[in-house]
Amino acid sequence: MAEMNATSGEHQPDRSLERMGALAGAMAHEIKNPLSTMNISLQLLMEDLEARPQVASSQVLPRIRLVCDEIRHLERILGSFLELARAPVLDLRERDPNVLVHELLNFLGPECTQETVDVRIHCDSSIGLVQFDPDLLKQALLNLLRNALQAMDGGGTLTVITTNCGANWEVQVIDTGKGIPPNVLERVFNPFFTTRRGGTGIGLAVTRSIVERHGGNIHLQSAVGQGTRFKLSFPRTVLRP
Ligand SMILES: Nc1ncnc2c1ncn2[C@@H]1O[C@H](COP(=O)(O)OP(=O)(O)O)[C@@H](O)[C@H]1O
Ligand SMILES: [Mg+2]
Repeated sequence: MAEMNATSGEHQPDRSLERMGALAGAMAHEIKNPLSTMNISLQLLMEDLEARPQVASSQVLPRIRLVCDEIRHLERILGSFLELARAPVLDLRERDPNVLVHELLNFLGPECTQETVDVRIHCDSSIGLVQFDPDLLKQALLNLLRNALQAMDGGGTLTVITTNCGANWEVQVIDTGKGIPPNVLERVFNPFFTTRRGGTGIGLAVTRSIVERHGGNIHLQSAVGQGTRFKLSFPRTVLRP
């Protein structure tokens, strides 16, 4: 079983994402415009070519379509990066995190059924009201839940556990999926690191950034072929930076 703590340290939050975010904001316009010009030009080119019978039966159109797919992939990566860059101010509320967990799993219910994933929820009702930004925590957990479902494409069990730890509270997302090899474990939080075809590698970077902004930390354990456990730990009261 390989494990790691993903948080960069209580007193020195990782600001590198914020710095990258500022740069990305400036670069986004520069990259976005030529990409959409390329996309439109290729669409027009395809329309022209489709009208020619000798082209329609050749490899020309599939090849152009491939380039269009790649452009769309680049646009998605750009969109996710901007999401990361935006880093809105924390909108802290006093809420019961168990309610959020139930809402999220209800929302993912149909996807779980379709993937033949069994869902187990163990909520510690003694947590009560704690401080968090509901939209951001939802995003952070959704990223973990989606990864868990993607790791169990042959079905499995998804377990979500919340725990009252006194001054802190915890939420764990556990899957019985394919697991993460030890040499990959330390890279999964890096922006753009992905092993999934069509993945953007932004999900865990966003989750880590959200957890750190709440003054929390992430612990990750994984065993290849057995599954993965993410444990997020949060203070009941969030100190504003
Ligand atoms: N629950 C999990 N089980 C197995 N691998 C995982 C899990 N969560 C994350 N990973 C690994 O971490 C990588 C990065 O995840 P993420 O940042 O969400 O990006 P993406 O989902 O776009 O690949 C994934 O490509 C995968 O290799
Ligand atoms: Mg993901």
